[in-house]
Amino acid sequence: MYSRELAGVMFRRYAEQYDMQDILIRHKVEHTFRVAELCGRYAEALGMAGEDADLAWLIGLMHDIGRFEQARRYGTFVDSLSVDHAELSADLLFGEGLAERFPQDGLPEDWRSIAETAIRQHNKLKPAETTDDRMRRFTELIRDADKTDIFRVIATIPFEDRVGSSRANFTETEEASPDVMACVLEHRCVPSGIRRSRFDGHISHCCMAFEMVFEISRQTVKEEGWLLALLAEKDAQGKLIWTERETEQLRILRREIENAWGIALS
Ligand SMILES: [Fe+2]
Repeated sequence: MYSRELAGVMFRRYAEQYDMQDILIRHKVEHTFRVAELCGRYAEALGMAGEDADLAWLIGLMHDIGRFEQARRYGTFVDSLSVDHAELSADLLFGEGLAERFPQDGLPEDWRSIAETAIRQHNKLKPAETTDDRMRRFTELIRDADKTDIFRVIATIPFEDRVGSSRANFTETEEASPDVMACVLEHRCVPSGIRRSRFDGHISHCCMAFEMVFEISRQTVKEEGWLLALLAEKDAQGKLIWTERETEQLRILRREIENAWGIALS
């Protein structure tokens, strides 16, 4: 049987070589364990068991491992200012042998190729087409689990504490651009290159919902409530968060997500 516990210890040992005083680093560790847990849970809900469920869990544990080197080398988690962190994760794991330091007993024989592909694809706007159903399933799993927890991260952690001071050149607040709203209406993720304002960024994060594949992930997002929190019009004091125009756009976004998912978020 695969030892998730040992793999978790191995991961912590690796992460502790980096600056654990840094709140951004600690958030990544927390995110990692949350995603691993979600991957395991989703895998079981999809009828995967034994070694395959363990592999799904392990992919969750490994998917962002390049974040630590990204922070050390470039001082930022913004990929567009540094490196594609998914590629870096896969390169370290499968190019430089980091994956071999993790326990392997109890994993399916093809674990390396599946994990490498799923990890490389986890952050892409759209995953590369494949005719390999097994590969596709693991890729979709990590992508759904990652997005599930990203909603929590975005809803609970202030902007600066998530990305550091290296914010992209965003204007403070400004209604979403027509290109971004076109993505909303077409139910797709927003390419980072077309985001202009912080509100564009906010809308874009929520648009990740359109790419979520499994019923279990959508239900979990609904139950956790973080996406709904991101779509809120008012703060805890009952004050409007956004301008009137932005609030209207947020309503359109919520309507489109609910249409795409076929469920109400509240
Ligand atoms: Fe990631």
